[in-house]
Amino acid sequence: MEQYAEPTQQEFEGWEEFYSKLVDEKLDFFQSEGRLFDVIFAQQFERGFLDLLCNLADMIRVLAETGMGLKKLRNLLPHKRVMLYFVQPSTRTFLSFQNACHILGLNVSEIRSTQTSSEVKGESPEDTIRTFASYVNLIISRHSEAGFAEKMAWVLNQTERPVPVINGGSGPDQHPTQAILDIYTLEREFRNVGGLDGKKIAMVGDLRRGRTVRSLSYLMKNYKDNTLYFVSPDVFKMKDDIKNFLNKYSIPFIETDDFESIMPEVDAIYMTRIQNEYSEGPSSEAETYPEFHFKTKHLSMIQPHCAILHPLPRRYEIDVVVDKDPRAAYWRQERCGMWIRAALIAHIFRVEEEIFREFS
Ligand code: CP
Repeated sequence: MEQYAEPTQQEFEGWEEFYSKLVDEKLDFFQSEGRLFDVIFAQQFERGFLDLLCNLADMIRVLAETGMGLKKLRNLLPHKRVMLYFVQPSTRTFLSFQNACHILGLNVSEIRSTQTSSEVKGESPEDTIRTFASYVNLIISRHSEAGFAEKMAWVLNQTERPVPVINGGSGPDQHPTQAILDIYTLEREFRNVGGLDGKKIAMVGDLRRGRTVRSLSYLMKNYKDNTLYFVSPDVFKMKDDIKNFLNKYSIPFIETDDFESIMPEVDAIYMTRIQNEYSEGPSSEAETYPEFHFKTKHLSMIQPHCAILHPLPRRYEIDVVVDKDPRAAYWRQERCGMWIRAALIAHIFRVEEEIFREFS
């Protein structure tokens, strides 16, 4: 059965009240029959489910390599339609979702600017999303506002057509599907060195406004004996909400501004760029923070198995010469995004068993 079930109807409070609740208190709201319905927060993902998605993504990429396998995948969801509402710039999240949909046979519509939708005539985002739900079975959104995807899911779940919403990035808040692709990448990079448990992972750069490192930090609750290294200038230190979360789950983290000192210790280095789009003033625009860049000379300072990740786009944080080193995983990482997003969509539409059956 490929149809999803609608979330359980319940009494809804006002948006402000709902938004102010702790994430843990509202996870049920984004589920249906014990399964994921809307994908809004990284906190929605548990270890068993992450392992399932990684397996499913592996199977989809194997099937998609042959004409016959791809045909089977494309026959799974040709009767479903997706809206890509990406009104904050994106290259890889947009393209990987678009291609993931094509792989599974879904039809895709897109709006990439509020200047080309009827929002320019004054239509509210809420009415805009309700309009999408009139035509499609799934909405994937990228927006500059924190909480945007959550609000749209909250709005739709009170209507007669509550189609699922996937958060493809909401301001400096969360990017949960980036986090699952990061996990999938790390899981693949660490297959020959004991997997993702017991690892030391450095996150480097603008940790305060980087939604990718925030979401990935939340997913760390699913893995054992890991240590995080938060490497940043003082002005871009990781926010307290993430540090409180890590403390709650007894996940050790070390904060430092000495990047080179931790390079020999870690199993993965997750680079990020300065998120100037969220700058409050012009002063931070010019500074590039070169001591937080990964340079060619650093390749000799890291472990032979150390994976270098970056959610991309990159500006100057990693020398392009580093791309040639096999430990540079970021191009593999962006490709992992397409496969894991295909796995996520297959799960939402309940066709994962048909994919698993191909391998049984
Ligand atoms: N990693 C990421 O979200 O890239 P895009 O902004 O290009 O989608």
